[in-house]
Amino acid sequence: MGDWPGLFITFEGIDGSGKSTQSRLLADALKSAGHDVIRTREPGGAPGAEEIRRLLVEGSPDRWSPETEMLLFTAARRDHWEKTIQPALNAGKIVVCDRFADSTRVYQGATRGDLRAIVDALHALMIGVEPDLTLVIDMDPEAALTRGLARHSGEDRFEEFGAGFQTALREGFLALAELNADRCRLIDGGRDEASVAADVLANTQAYLT
Ligand code: TMP
Repeated sequence: MGDWPGLFITFEGIDGSGKSTQSRLLADALKSAGHDVIRTREPGGAPGAEEIRRLLVEGSPDRWSPETEMLLFTAARRDHWEKTIQPALNAGKIVVCDRFADSTRVYQGATRGDLRAIVDALHALMIGVEPDLTLVIDMDPEAALTRGLARHSGEDRFEEFGAGFQTALREGFLALAELNADRCRLIDGGRDEASVAADVLANTQAYLT
């Protein structure tokens, strides 16, 4: 467990995997059970980090190189950590966060050249913390891509890399979950929303006091 009185839970998965819905459902369930919860997301989660988010998720796929992306995501994460996550954890709250450093490890570290060592070095230097629990929502890329693009949110830059990219991402998340089995739980996201939510909550129970 991390060096804080609160509980740090993250959700990870490919675009359209349903993790935003699931993070909301988990945060609501924990609040109903009387816990002090904040729900947040990356990139973003603090005013400065939300400004950086727009640079990252809008525009053409080739707008940034993976290296530049990594620096922007890490800058946003540092702001989010300082302004939102760390104060909440220090106040004893449960932080439910949609994406964190594992997304950089997989999206920037493993899909467009092998930059994983640089991602890890930058994380160690500038962030240096891991979640207490990471729920990896696994999903068939074809089904997830349909859902992701159907949003037409204007934030489709990563979805536009295509199905091959999403398949590489899925493999990256599966490998990451296996390597970090101490904090990662793999959740089958291909089921109905309520079944996935029940599984997520069951996996969280052991961490609640
Ligand atoms: P979202 O759709 O989950 O809000 O995330 C926005 C996009 O940013 C999504 O396609 C994943 C991508 N992303 C990265 O490439 N690296 C990161 O470190 C994070 C947090 C997100």
